[in-house]
Amino acid sequence: MSKLTTKTIASHAKVAKAAPPTESEVIAPSPVAANWSGYLRVRSIVTETPGVKTFRLVPSSGEHLLPFTFVPGQFLNVAFWIGGARMNRSYSISSSPIQREYIDLTVRREPRGAVSRHIVDLLKVGDQIEAAGPVGKFTFDGTEADSIVLIAAGVGITPMMSILRYLTERSWAGDIFLIFTFRKPAEFIFGNEIAAIQRVNPKLHVAVTVTKPEGTDWKGSRGRITKELLTKTVPDLASRRVHVCGPQSMMEATKAMLIELGVAPDQLKTELFGATKPAPAAAGTALKPTAEATGPLVTFSTNHKAVRIHVDQTVLELSEELSIGIENSCRVGTCGLCKVKLTSGEVAMAVQDSLTPDDQANGIILACQAKPKSDIVVEA
Ligand code: FES
Repeated sequence: MSKLTTKTIASHAKVAKAAPPTESEVIAPSPVAANWSGYLRVRSIVTETPGVKTFRLVPSSGEHLLPFTFVPGQFLNVAFWIGGARMNRSYSISSSPIQREYIDLTVRREPRGAVSRHIVDLLKVGDQIEAAGPVGKFTFDGTEADSIVLIAAGVGITPMMSILRYLTERSWAGDIFLIFTFRKPAEFIFGNEIAAIQRVNPKLHVAVTVTKPEGTDWKGSRGRITKELLTKTVPDLASRRVHVCGPQSMMEATKAMLIELGVAPDQLKTELFGATKPAPAAAGTALKPTAEATGPLVTFSTNHKAVRIHVDQTVLELSEELSIGIENSCRVGTCGLCKVKLTSGEVAMAVQDSLTPDDQANGIILACQAKPKSDIVVEA
C-alpha cells in the first residue's frame, strides 16, 4: 500500500486550503512531444502492493530540478539493456508536476514482462535509468472542463493519481469523481493516500469495487464497474468529461456503458494499459506469414532492403521480419519511439497521438501504425 507520512497528509491539508495559485505559479504544460532524453537516478523505492513499486527518479546530473515539465497524465519512455537486447517501455508518471524535483513511476511486475520484471526485481536506489519524454495526450490539468470523472482498473490508476494529486495541490474548484476497480483488496494501489486526499479535498468523491474479494474481509462494493455504480457515483454523468484507463476489455466495456449513458464521445478519453500487439522477443524473430505478400513495395533505404508487405501488416512488423532495428515500445501509437521518415509514398495510420505538427509537416510517420497505401520508401 502507499506509504503516507504525517508530513504528506499535512502538506495535502495545507495545499487544499491554500488560495488558488496565480497564473505565474501554475506550471506551464510541456510540449506534447518526446523532447527530452537523458538519465534519471533512482532516489527511493516504495512497495505499493505485492508486485507494484513506485520508483522516485531525480536528475542524475545532481541538478535540483528536473530538466523537463509534464502535464498530469503523461508518461515517460524508458530503455534498458536486458540479455544483450535494448528494450523500451512506456510508464505513466504518478506524481504531480508541481513537484519539480522528482517524478514517480509506478510499475507493476508482469510475470512475462522482461522489462517490468527487470525494474521491479532488480532496480536499486542509486541506479540510473535512460529515459525520454514526457509524451502522451491522455492529460488533464483542470482547464479542459469544470469537473472530471476518472475511471481506472488496476495499475491504470497511475496517470489518474498524477491528475488527482495535481488538482488537489492546486485546490482546483471542480468535482473529481474517482472510480477504481481491482481484483483483490491487497491490490488497492495508493489506497492510503487516496483516503488521505479525500479527507482534505471535499471535492473528491471515490467509489471502489473489487472483482475477486472471495476469501477476504472486504466489505465494500464487489464486482465489475456497472452502469448502476457509475450513475450512483456521478450525478449528471452525461454532462461530464470522463477519462478511462485500464486493460482493453475493461476499457471497451466501460466506454460502451458511458456512451449508452449519454457521455459525449469527444468528452471521453481513454488510455490503454498493456500493448494490444505483442512484440517479438527480439528483432528478426517475428513469425513470417506463410502466404506470399501482395501489398505495396516497402523500401528501407538505410538498410537497402525492399520487399512487399502483407495486407494489414504495419511497417514496424515488416521491419522486424527483416531484422531492421526500429525502436518501439507501446506499439499503439502513443509513445513516439517508432518514428521514421517517409521519403516517398503514402501510409494510413489509425493512431497518430505522438506525432507533432512539425513531425507531420516533415513526413515523419509511426512505424507501429503505418500501413502503406502505395509503394513507400522509409529512412530505416
Ligand atoms: S511504438 Fe509507440 S508509437 Fe509506435
